[in-house]
Amino acid sequence: MNRQKFIMALTLGLVPIVVSAKRALKILDPGPVGGGCDGRELMYEGMPGKLSNTSYLPGWAAGGKKLIVEGTVYRKDGRTVAPNIIVYIYHTDSKGYYSPFANQVQGKRHGYLRGWVKTGCDGKYRFYTTMPAPYPQRSNPAHIHPVIKEPGINEYYIDEYQFDNDPLLTRELRDKAEDRGGTGIIKLRKTTSGILVCKRDIILGYNIPNYR
Ligand SMILES: [Fe+2]
Repeated sequence: MNRQKFIMALTLGLVPIVVSAKRALKILDPGPVGGGCDGRELMYEGMPGKLSNTSYLPGWAAGGKKLIVEGTVYRKDGRTVAPNIIVYIYHTDSKGYYSPFANQVQGKRHGYLRGWVKTGCDGKYRFYTTMPAPYPQRSNPAHIHPVIKEPGINEYYIDEYQFDNDPLLTRELRDKAEDRGGTGIIKLRKTTSGILVCKRDIILGYNIPNYR
């Protein structure tokens, strides 16, 4: 057997072994739920020790366009309500900035408009906040970032809340939406007192990589 044939035989023999080993490792450890790192662990910075199913973000009392963000969290079957689920949100201010408080130390990158809830036995949650503005000088639609923490698995992000009537929410962007946790594109309604309401139900694990 000459050298070239020897290397080829060696390669043909080894490649399947290496590929199988990689596959086996992936089955044993598919990686974190929700995929790679994206700074979602910042949700823990400044998180209150005790949470309820309702949260008032600092903007609510400070003026601005009031917005209620609410819904029900369901298990992956889409029908069973899910208690003890932490939902964390953060969003821009009325000028489109993630502006931190002057003395804010924790979670500065997310700004000061942050809030946490933990669902009760009916799976419901509600945030009292204000409408976020789109980033200045950019074409991204206005949005609210949510992160989910379920007992026993790592936190993962779901699709941002976006608003159906936002002119920046193009057909292309709508088509590109991943629908993580179900669609995040919401039709706002207005209460009789003029408060905007954004109702979104969340399905745990829906379109979430490595969810098990
Ligand atoms: Fe953002």
